[in-house]
Amino acid sequence: MDKKSWVHKITEGVYWVGALHWDRRLFDELIPLPEGTSYNSYIIFGSEKTALIDAVDFSKQKILVENLKSLDVKRIDYVISNHAEQDHSGEITKVLELYPESKVVTNPKCKDFLKELLLIPDDRFITVNDRQPLSLGDKTLEFIIAPWVHWPETMLTYLREEKILFPCDLFGSHLATTDLIAEDGAELYRGAKRYYAEIMMPFKNLVKQHIAKVEGLGVRMIAPSHGPIYKNPSFIINAYKEWTSDDVKNEVVLPYVSMHGSTEKMVYYLIEALVGRGIVVKPFNLTVTDVGELAMSLVDTATLVIAAPTMLVGPHPYAVYAAYLVNALRPKLKFFGIVGSYGWGSKMVETIEGILTNVKAEKLPYVVAKGYPKVEDFKSLDRLADAIAEKHKGLRIL
Ligand code: FEO
Repeated sequence: MDKKSWVHKITEGVYWVGALHWDRRLFDELIPLPEGTSYNSYIIFGSEKTALIDAVDFSKQKILVENLKSLDVKRIDYVISNHAEQDHSGEITKVLELYPESKVVTNPKCKDFLKELLLIPDDRFITVNDRQPLSLGDKTLEFIIAPWVHWPETMLTYLREEKILFPCDLFGSHLATTDLIAEDGAELYRGAKRYYAEIMMPFKNLVKQHIAKVEGLGVRMIAPSHGPIYKNPSFIINAYKEWTSDDVKNEVVLPYVSMHGSTEKMVYYLIEALVGRGIVVKPFNLTVTDVGELAMSLVDTATLVIAAPTMLVGPHPYAVYAAYLVNALRPKLKFFGIVGSYGWGSKMVETIEGILTNVKAEKLPYVVAKGYPKVEDFKSLDRLADAIAEKHKGLRIL
């Protein structure tokens, strides 16, 4: 792909000129990318002006330049920057160099970020405010300030005449596919849900507000800056409404780690006890867990139980990692529990609780065994399963 330009016509005068990154397997040195990702960039030719929406990641400069060449782009008047993060802004400086007449169009906060991150001089910017239009002649862009999806400076760009929304990260998915305008379906849903869990879930209340704004536009197409374009906007809007709603599922997410089998024995017992009560369980052995899968499972689970042995008095470090991740992602949990074991002394429970400061879920009875679990511990696990079943019944999800 690096040597060959490849553009895709979206509609009259609007082209995808981004880059697919098939073989990227990690984002932010944290998030696994089992299906790669894409950095979408779009060029819009108006009768008087030309605008480029978002530029690609640093690593894909050659592709963007070749794509622009292949369309014989002689002039770019505006480089719209919806978001300053470098996977979308990285090559703005190259575009400014190749097209010296071009100006970066963005909001004041994003301008500040771009100046810090990319050292773009002040005189290369035009700043815009919420709902401000920008004429390209026969086409009009409108900017919608939408902070915290997922940085404080994020905005959406709307092409009024064609009713296409360019929301950058919002509604995106880490999915590298040549099928740029994908069919609705399970693959697209899963990719978008995983992305929502990893990137947008901590901001779900703000996301809700932005969805309401988007619905008011009556968009015909949503063209994010990662993953495929949605030709049926209601597919992704409805999915986002579901994920950001207060509704939870009859599920227990159970991240666990075990050193000598005591905690594992308790986990397996609890899984059986919960399944026997009609509850879906999603266990994650933290030594082999893809954190994207764990994040996705947290989107709509009613209950989380973290299970860990004690190591050097505190929780096993993998459990600390899971608790920290949960706390950062702020899922809409209703109930929370801890299961684990210790040898001679433990501050495992207090340490995990101390990490989960953002989790407002109701606490369930904790079950911590001294050594290998015994009859009383199994009875406690049965009581925990009973309590979860009762709580789920109370929510009318069981
Ligand atoms: Fe895809 Fe926040 O960058």
